[in-house]
Amino acid sequence: MESRLPDVLPSDPMHWAAAWLAEATARKLRRNPNAMTLATVDGDGRPSSRVVLCKAFHADPGYLVFYTNYRSQKATDIKANARVAVNFHWDSLGRQVRMQGTAIRSPQRESDQYFATRDWGSQLGAWGSDQSSQLESRAALLHQVQERAATLGVSVSADLQTLTGEGPPDIPRPPHWGGYRIWPERIELWIEGADRIHDRAAWTRSLKARGENEFSGGPWSGNRLQP
Ligand SMILES: Cc1cc2nc3c(=O)[nH]c(=O)nc-3n(C[C@H](O)[C@H](O)[C@H](O)COP(=O)(O)O)c2cc1C
Repeated sequence: MESRLPDVLPSDPMHWAAAWLAEATARKLRRNPNAMTLATVDGDGRPSSRVVLCKAFHADPGYLVFYTNYRSQKATDIKANARVAVNFHWDSLGRQVRMQGTAIRSPQRESDQYFATRDWGSQLGAWGSDQSSQLESRAALLHQVQERAATLGVSVSADLQTLTGEGPPDIPRPPHWGGYRIWPERIELWIEGADRIHDRAAWTRSLKARGENEFSGGPWSGNRLQP
């Protein structure tokens, strides 16, 4: 495990971040090593943050993916302002990755493919929850999920734990649920050092929109930063 960044900064910081994520995942350091804090800003400029799971990390061409409800607060924020920030922190590795970039919806086909890999409980949950909307009670939510399951032809027990119908259900992806790709234009790698003399470097690149869900990124250019 490296204790500092190389003297000559690498030109591929996304590969470094991907390797750190892979290492945290392989070493099972915590339940969700792919958890990241996602910060968004609403139409009035108010920031908010929450944890989401990074479900894909493509060092080339350089974007990461999370899944959510397209009517949630974060999705409403992204509609008003697509600029977002994410933060990974692996405490026991003494590493942090920060990114700033632009979020755009994943291609529908990709969201379909990912949704199909989820278990039926999570699939029903995506239909059953109007994420970020107000709720009368926990019981009302369970009832809502059960009712929506029924409209999909899926029969579940009142506690949503067991299927009561026949065979595994074929549940389609809700149109209001899917992925976002985050394309960073700034990335910072941080390694904890003794006496708070941490090692930090930040890289930037330019992004050019290319089609509906794509960007092309220029080369990364990095600088060391004081801790
Ligand atoms: C470990 C962890 C993982 C989570 N993963 C996701 C996720 O991948 N997608 C998601 O929409 N919410 C996820 N959540 C819930 C979010 O933190 C948040 O409560 C929810 O998305 C609503 O946020 P919003 O109202 O700002 O849109 C996760 C929460 C935790 C603690």
